Amino acid sequence: MSGIQPQPGIMDIDLYVGGTSTVEGVKDVTKLSSNENPLGCSDVVKDAHAKTGLNLHRYPSTEHEELRAAIGEVHGLDPARIICGVGSDEVLQFITHAYAGVGDEIVYPQHGFSMYPILANMVGATPVVAAERERVVDVDAILAACTEKTKIVFVANPANPTGTMIGGNDMARLADGLPEGCILVHDGAYTEYVQGFDGGAGLVEARSNVVMTRTFSKIYGLGGLRVGWGYASQEIIDVLNRVRQPFNLSPIQTALAEAAVRDQEWVTKCRAENTRLRAWLAEALMEIGVPSDTSCTNFILARFADQSEAEACDDYLKSQGLIVRRVAGYGLPNCLRITVGDEPSCRRVAHAIGQFKGGAR
Ligand SMILES: Cc1ncc(COP(=O)(O)O)c(C=O)c1O
Repeated sequence: MSGIQPQPGIMDIDLYVGGTSTVEGVKDVTKLSSNENPLGCSDVVKDAHAKTGLNLHRYPSTEHEELRAAIGEVHGLDPARIICGVGSDEVLQFITHAYAGVGDEIVYPQHGFSMYPILANMVGATPVVAAERERVVDVDAILAACTEKTKIVFVANPANPTGTMIGGNDMARLADGLPEGCILVHDGAYTEYVQGFDGGAGLVEARSNVVMTRTFSKIYGLGGLRVGWGYASQEIIDVLNRVRQPFNLSPIQTALAEAAVRDQEWVTKCRAENTRLRAWLAEALMEIGVPSDTSCTNFILARFADQSEAEACDDYLKSQGLIVRRVAGYGLPNCLRITVGDEPSCRRVAHAIGQFKGGAR
């Protein structure tokens, strides 16, 4: 034996399972398993892509000044307090790396995003789960789960995979009730799907213990680009920049993300289309006996009678070339998460679930 050992927690990590995109033996596949934007990215981004000068022998800027300036301008935020990462996942990783370690605890809600326990284990911290109330984040349960060892609380608002959301007052109450030295991460991956919502920016301005994260992967239609960002106090951003690799983003990533954030018309259009089709899909599923909570995101968490019905429906959908997401790993074995696709995809998935419920198995 070499005696080589990974750090504490590493072997407790269950690898992240992404949404699949193929079904063996089925050609015409519709992927509704990864909350991607069915409309893709805007033409402005495609033009920027075509024009990106490829100076690939040059290192990129370490500071992402132009992208941070654009984000700051569009959202009315201080660019100096923005940090950019390889997806918001990387920003979540900076926070965890910088603020938690062996002996510390990281608290997140019962059905919280699966990266939270992965990140906790990555740094040897203990993941602590706080119960939800009927698939909605419960601030009191989170506060009750916190101890003096709690260094980070992760809350996605709106949440994945439940799609539900809590109010600004509840988030503020959470921030106010945390133990001294604990950071509240307001994960805003789905912020843009809620019209007029600031994603927690106001909370960051008002409280020094809150970090907000955002992504280009969802409404901007750029999941493949891998760009996200965070906003926090100058003190926290200065810490996070110390654990960020200097060249974490390529010039292609920063140029396209900048073009994307400047095209808010695209965001408005995608939000309107998502809102329309989400309502249609939820209603269509309800009518065939598949309820869901009101979603504030670009997916619906469809509830079935039990695990075996949810799995049988998933198998049936796969046989029809429709890929949705099983969420048993999130403690929701009787549910399937269905991304709101374009109109034909929504009709197709509703029709197939109707067939399944009608006995076509
Ligand atoms: C709640 C939540 N947070 C963060 C992310 C990470 O997104 P990305 O790393 O693509 O920015 C996701 C992606 O699905 C998510 O659902």
